[in-house]
Amino acid sequence: MPGLVIVGAQWGDEGKGKVTDLLAERAEMIVRFQGGNNAGHTIVRDGEEFKFHLIPSGILYPEKTCAIGNGVVLDPRILLGEIDGLRRRGVDVGNLKISANAHLIMPYHVLLDTAGELKLGKLSLGTTRRGIGPCYADKALRLGIRVQDLLDEKILRAKIRTALASKQQALRELSVQRRKLRKEAGEGDREAAGQAIGDAPDPRLDLHAMTEEHISYGHRLEPHIADTARLCWDTLDAGKTVIFEGAQATLLDLDHGTYPFVTSSNPIAGAATVGAGVGPNDIEEVWGVAKAYATRVGAGPFPTEIEDAAGRHMLERGHEYGTTTGRERRCGWIDLVALRYAVRINGMTSLAITKLDVLGGLETLRVAVRYRSREGALLDSFPYHQSILHGATPEYEELPGFDADISGCRKAADLPSEARAYLEYIEELAGVPIRLVGVGPGRDQVVWMD
Ligand code: IMP
Repeated sequence: MPGLVIVGAQWGDEGKGKVTDLLAERAEMIVRFQGGNNAGHTIVRDGEEFKFHLIPSGILYPEKTCAIGNGVVLDPRILLGEIDGLRRRGVDVGNLKISANAHLIMPYHVLLDTAGELKLGKLSLGTTRRGIGPCYADKALRLGIRVQDLLDEKILRAKIRTALASKQQALRELSVQRRKLRKEAGEGDREAAGQAIGDAPDPRLDLHAMTEEHISYGHRLEPHIADTARLCWDTLDAGKTVIFEGAQATLLDLDHGTYPFVTSSNPIAGAATVGAGVGPNDIEEVWGVAKAYATRVGAGPFPTEIEDAAGRHMLERGHEYGTTTGRERRCGWIDLVALRYAVRINGMTSLAITKLDVLGGLETLRVAVRYRSREGALLDSFPYHQSILHGATPEYEELPGFDADISGCRKAADLPSEARAYLEYIEELAGVPIRLVGVGPGRDQVVWMD
């Protein structure tokens, strides 16, 4: 039963979309199992760029089933926008299936995300403000609204009413804060003040208007709503491959990442079972995706972060700006302590290294092989205690860089010897084979290692 999970091995934005797109060629079905439109996948097909936030990367194959699993949190307005955008570009979305059990990001979740960040001030997490955390919180509180609720007006209205009741205080506090910001920004800048805090128009919080609006979303989404777990079972039982596509990454995992600077779901491979509705023995392969260096958006520990010329080289050459929020990403050297942790916790069987071309032109490549704690102790494994991690500094090995433009390489033998040595070093210390290397944004700009 060939289930294959694809996960981020670092802090996200590793290029999982491209790897999924390539591996999807051999699959029958692609399913997303967690996260929401905090994710952003960019795929370049025949020179055309596609950006997805919710729709699985396999959508560009009309003959394959693409599913949004029960573990995803879904903003119906965003999803419909993506569906419309794809249709306009001639992409058939008939094979898109949406779990009836997936939870909905409602307008108040987006507002509460902003409210939470404003309240934290300097301590804010740097969330994408897409309502992810508040939506998963409602799911755990059993106050969530699911896709299937869009099909029954009476149930939908009652559930929205109940969910809203517990949020009035926080929403009131937000509107006070908004008024204050508007006042500070001056009369002429009212709009700007609203946008700056990720504002949504208040009429959307009206129970009647919200119910009506969501019922109309339900009508449009109905043809896609399905029992996606059963679709996975049927595909697996027929001996065909299902790809479980992760969003975000290992170090943003709610349980195993750098809490509290994490997302509100579990992006590690084990969560594919819960978020798609299959058993652990349905999973045969786990592919981890890591950049040839490292990036992080939002706040939180990042031991190998650099702000020197090499960091700017990565930022500029790698176009390290968020697909979802446009934010500049923090850049740093590859961290093998964190990568070994990701290998183990995901049960990784293969590694894909992306954006190797970005490192071209750097004289020396640094690779973090262990940390040193504030007290001077050497740490070979990723610290489980936040204070130790926050105080850890990396110890590097240095390898020679390469100058050549490698974007035209298609075989391992085409790569400069220094690039091959760099990959071999990573492979040896990570303990899993590197099967795929990205050398440019294009779909064909890859080197298959075996
Ligand atoms: P949230 O997922 O919007 O709640 O944000 C929580 C943290 O996860 C923040 O640091 C975000 O920047 C980060 N994050 C969420 N989604 C992504 C992603 O797709 N790529 C990289 N970072 C992400």
